[in-house]
Amino acid sequence: MTPAEKPRLYREAAAKILAALEDEDDPLVWMSTIPAVLKEDFGFLWVGFYLARGGELRVGPYQGGLACLRIPFERGVCGAAARTGETMVVPDVHEFDGHIACDSRAESEIVVPVWDAAGRLRAVLDVDSEYPAHFDRIDQDHLEELVSHMQSLAWSDPN
Ligand code: SME
Repeated sequence: MTPAEKPRLYREAAAKILAALEDEDDPLVWMSTIPAVLKEDFGFLWVGFYLARGGELRVGPYQGGLACLRIPFERGVCGAAARTGETMVVPDVHEFDGHIACDSRAESEIVVPVWDAAGRLRAVLDVDSEYPAHFDRIDQDHLEELVSHMQSLAWSDPN
């Protein structure tokens, strides 16, 4: 994939996802579908959700190798995104203090917070690449746009 192709690939993936999920309000169905399409279309190393539950992050639907199951908010790129509420773009995971290496092939990573309509953090979307500096503003903008559609879903009461 050349840099020029990235926006087109995101637009096509988003169109596919949004068309498939048009009348769907179950977060589990959304969280299962998004990693499937992104992994298939982009060939990312790992794509998945961690759910904010019980004061920590717990692994949700994902595509890729066996992942860390629970991540405290204090740890990892995922924890940092959950704590700050900001998307984390990490060009070199080896330089990120506290990065959790679930797969030794991972070189770069992006983590995007997922909110509900009340502004509560519900999950984070984590995407890992085996290439350094794979993620940039284009990935951030498109992934943030994609998960913004999840705000209005039927999230159950937090536990
Ligand atoms: N690298 C993440 C942990 C999750 S795995 O990459 C799937 C982190 O540092 O939070």
